[in-house]
Amino acid sequence: MTETATSEPVGAQSERCTAAVRISGASVRLGGRIIFADVDLTVDSGQFVAILGPNGAGKSTLMRAILGLAPLAAGSVQVLGDTPAGARSRVGYLPQQRSLDRAAGVRGVDLVRLGLDGTRWGLPLPPLGKARRRSERNRIAEVIELVGASAYAGRAIGELSGGEQQRLLIAQALVRRPELLILDEPLDSLDLPNQAAVAALVRGVTSRERVAVLLVAHDVNPLLPHLDRVVYLAGGRALTGPVDEVITAPRLSALYGAPIEVLRTSDGRLVVVGLPEAPHHHGDRHEPQP
Ligand SMILES: Nc1ncnc2c1ncn2[C@@H]1O[C@H](COP(=O)(O)OP(=O)(O)O)[C@@H](O)[C@H]1O
Ligand SMILES: [Mg+2]
Repeated sequence: MTETATSEPVGAQSERCTAAVRISGASVRLGGRIIFADVDLTVDSGQFVAILGPNGAGKSTLMRAILGLAPLAAGSVQVLGDTPAGARSRVGYLPQQRSLDRAAGVRGVDLVRLGLDGTRWGLPLPPLGKARRRSERNRIAEVIELVGASAYAGRAIGELSGGEQQRLLIAQALVRRPELLILDEPLDSLDLPNQAAVAALVRGVTSRERVAVLLVAHDVNPLLPHLDRVVYLAGGRALTGPVDEVITAPRLSALYGAPIEVLRTSDGRLVVVGLPEAPHHHGDRHEPQP
């Protein structure tokens, strides 16, 4: 589906050249099946975009295409003005369903450091220059502060709640100062207050770190106050645009083939009701036992 052209100011040409992501007519086929076809999407630097849709719609596959991990059957993907593979070092990525349980003895601060140089993980550290060590330490402290994790970053991650772990994982994905941040279902398994808090946190990060963010989610509601654009994937098609254009009852009902209502609360917030496959919350499952 083609993104509607918006009127652009003169000089927008140069901004278009530095779009964080430009996807045009993209299709991906896996196991002989078309997962999605003819997807167009432009994400400008500094934008916060949600990728929404039911389970199995192809959200993770679309993210993997942007990372150069899923080959295209048709169309093109450009990332930060480069090919996906060429831009990889400038992209931060938090994959779906990371389990931290096995690394439960590791401290939060070590988890964040892993984002700086994963290949050093578990190996004796090569000697680093003093200045480099200091600047790495400063950057780690800076992102931990940015995600509000300073109070517990020194604790073992196995002792932390799901919300606290998720904040540290976001810090890990940010530590190398990416220009594009891809978060695949970071709200999954969080309770509603934590979903709202992490959504607000990511909004703050987009402006303070000048990073474009693609966030995959089941449920748009916690994200709605914060988003610049949304992408809905369903039935192999994508619907892309500003929140007010895409989040309407007729468009979502057509996309899902099911009746979906969009309500506006008295304080002006949108609420989407009737999405199939409501998100499965396991509560804050990493909450320490009383
Ligand atoms: N490597 C693969 N080979 C074949 N099919 C796959 C592969 N990876 C994912 N799929 C299928 O592609 C579809 C989209 O998967 P995915 O992108 O993970 O969806 P989502 O993230 O929206 O839940 C699913 O039906 C899934 O089973
Ligand atoms: Mg997925």
